[in-house]
Amino acid sequence: MQTKSFRIDRYISKQCSINRRDIKLMLAQGRIVINGHVMREITTIVEEFDHVVLDGKVLQDKTAVYIMLNKPIGVVSATKDELHKTVIDLLPDTMTGSGVKAEDLHIVGRLDLNTSGLLLLTNDSRWSRRLMSPEEKVEKVYQVTLQNELTEEYISAFAEGMYFEFENITTQPAQLTILSPHLAEVVLTEGKYHQIKRMFGRFRNPVLALHRSKVGNLSLDNDMSEGQCRLLTSEEVSGMT
Ligand code: URA
Repeated sequence: MQTKSFRIDRYISKQCSINRRDIKLMLAQGRIVINGHVMREITTIVEEFDHVVLDGKVLQDKTAVYIMLNKPIGVVSATKDELHKTVIDLLPDTMTGSGVKAEDLHIVGRLDLNTSGLLLLTNDSRWSRRLMSPEEKVEKVYQVTLQNELTEEYISAFAEGMYFEFENITTQPAQLTILSPHLAEVVLTEGKYHQIKRMFGRFRNPVLALHRSKVGNLSLDNDMSEGQCRLLTSEEVSGMT
């Protein structure tokens, strides 16, 4: 996922095959309008979701969408899959219509096939990159049902971090709360491959069910049934971290 922002002359020249020197003139003549404002500066940057008009012709009109989905078990966190239903298959046409194509969406932090809960989808790569950036340390909250009883030992082991030989990393401190003998809440600030299952695997304690209820400041709606989704509000989008 690249950042889709360009300097105005590069952008117009790419879109319309116009010589960059002529674009300078167009700017001076006030022929380029971005988000309703006439642009005159060559240093103007065009962002992915800016509305761009040249001589009255719309060159770019893309809406940013942010979707919360309650992922059911058995649906794959991918945009295409030969075998399983994907999370994209669950989205109603109304959510991807109005200029937003399903193929433009990507998943912000996958869940395993047999994990349920809060999954975010967007076409805004800048937003998802920030959410997933290790520096941001965005918290992800999971409820985990285990085959064997939990003990106090788990709390310190999760807080200290565990060494994963395959990736040669030690996991970031994770917070584990024992909710009942077989149920824990785990808060991670990262998302390594099968991380929770592997961490409980250290105790030879198989995960029977895994559910994500929260990412950053956003909790899965209580009344959202499995497979349902909705658009995020602009407050939710900006208040994620
Ligand atoms: N950890 C896992 O093991 N699986 C998930 O889907 C998420 C976190």
